[in-house]
Amino acid sequence: MTQPILITKDLRKSYGSLEAVKGISFSVRRGEIFSLLGPNGAGKTTTISMLSCLLKPTDGDAEIGGYSINKDQMAVKRLIGIVPQELALYPPLTGRQNLTFWGRMQGLGGNILQKRVDEVLEQVGLVERGGDRVEKYSGGMKRRLNIAVGLLHKPQLVFMDEPTVGIDPQSRRKILDMVKELQVQGMTVLYTTHYMEEAAELSDRVGIIDHGKLIALGTLKELTRLVGDQQTLRLYFGEEQSNENLLPLFKDVSGVLLATTTNGQIVLTVEEAEAILPDIMVTIHQAGLHLRSVDIEEPNLESVFLHLTGRVLRD
Ligand SMILES: Nc1ncnc2c1ncn2[C@@H]1O[C@H](COP(=O)(O)OP(=O)(O)OP(=O)(O)O)[C@@H](O)[C@H]1O
Ligand SMILES: [Mg+2]
Repeated sequence: MTQPILITKDLRKSYGSLEAVKGISFSVRRGEIFSLLGPNGAGKTTTISMLSCLLKPTDGDAEIGGYSINKDQMAVKRLIGIVPQELALYPPLTGRQNLTFWGRMQGLGGNILQKRVDEVLEQVGLVERGGDRVEKYSGGMKRRLNIAVGLLHKPQLVFMDEPTVGIDPQSRRKILDMVKELQVQGMTVLYTTHYMEEAAELSDRVGIIDHGKLIALGTLKELTRLVGDQQTLRLYFGEEQSNENLLPLFKDVSGVLLATTTNGQIVLTVEEAEAILPDIMVTIHQAGLHLRSVDIEEPNLESVFLHLTGRVLRD
């Protein structure tokens, strides 16, 4: 088996007295899409920043293509591309001018740079808008240009730090498809997100990160197996119904392990959905409620996170 392209070894980072990353070890295989999934403040950006030599680890090391992030930073930087969480673009400049600027910063120039600018604009679907100023771009277009910057020098491994935050579903779709296409072209992707749907769709393997620690790592199948046979019931009573007030009703039903609300729905973690559903229906009937819809969900990454931490991944 070939050597993993990335091996992190007990990586740590403290900001003063705050230990943001508390000893993280994992490896990423060549050609893989590997996601770090975790809530706000989990340590995703801090980890990515250390791996891309933008931030010095307090302790530990990582090897990228056999080169140490502590000792061989020049060699590491040649192998990696970075798509930062915070957009690194100059709004008064055009898309092309931004790419040319960043390309020069990466040591590219002349015809090679212009060819690469054309190629990455094509890759991210912005050929027609390349001559427009970035200040006129939509949020999704800015995100795509931000990705193009990270691809300019044909990296073997690209770090994408929450590349879909704050954009519409259509732009998100484009970006997710783009990430898959990068893999088809042979690139390795380390992707961070707090959206479990994205991690589930894209990743060959997922590392779940919380409070600076990797609390689980594996394929989607391996991770959901951790939850065992638990299922999720989603109940919807319509917009006019206040879900918070209904929670106590369902918490008391035997077999309900956890009751929360999200997106206007009541979400119940249960032992066995089919066995418990009749009792739930009786509860609903007795309370005089009108149930609009009910969904039964098999374990997913959200339930894995809930199972491991007792908290929901996001609101
Ligand atoms: N420059 C800094 N100085 C002090 N504390 C920091 C700094 N950067 C991050 N932190 C803290 O370190 C922890 C991890 O932050 P980090 O940005 O790595 O999390 P994240 O998983 O990327 O979160 P998000 O999903 O919000 O981007 C947080 O508690 C954060 O407040
Ligand atoms: Mg972050």
